[in-house]
Amino acid sequence: MNVYRYLVMAHLLGASAWIGGHLVLLGVVLPGARRAGSVAGVLEFEHRFGRIGLLALVVQVASGALLATRWIDDWRTIFSAPTPAGHLIIAKIVLLALIMALARHATRRVLPALTATTLGRFAFHAWVVTALSVLLLVCGVGVRTGGLVP
Ligand code: HEM
Repeated sequence: MNVYRYLVMAHLLGASAWIGGHLVLLGVVLPGARRAGSVAGVLEFEHRFGRIGLLALVVQVASGALLATRWIDDWRTIFSAPTPAGHLIIAKIVLLALIMALARHATRRVLPALTATTLGRFAFHAWVVTALSVLLLVCGVGVRTGGLVP
């Protein structure tokens, strides 16, 4: 059995769910909330997508960590003897930490006090998380294709 193939599949499925969910939030749910002048749709989406999003993130971290072991022979030399894949994997870990910090801030601070007035603040969070997630995708493709330089 080719475990690597299944790990890549799980990683791509998780990436689709995570990024896809954020695109629906940005492209459908937030504009609808602005038009209606009500945050009910946003809260409903967060409630429903919350679990799927969290599951997708757990899948990304687990499958990503296992995939990374294919590209990094010795984690102790990741800074002293860096490789293009090593750089990109470190970048992915940093991006993930930023996303988690933003998501935590949004769930603990921004969402509980969400009103039509603070919707812009929440939308800003969602844009930043989506942009960082797309960067994670770009870095991931770079790992397989030998870097980010064309
Ligand atoms: C929301 C989070 C993430 C997204 C959206 C994401 C997205 C992607 C995508 C689209 C690929 C390309 C797969 C391919 O070439 O077929 C990839 C590859 C990869 N990702 Fe992630 N990723 C995420 C999190 C992580 C994390 C936390 C790690 C762990 C360090 C990680 C490690 C990797 C590795 C090592 C590869 C190369 C796989 C290979 O081609 O062997 N990813 N990622």
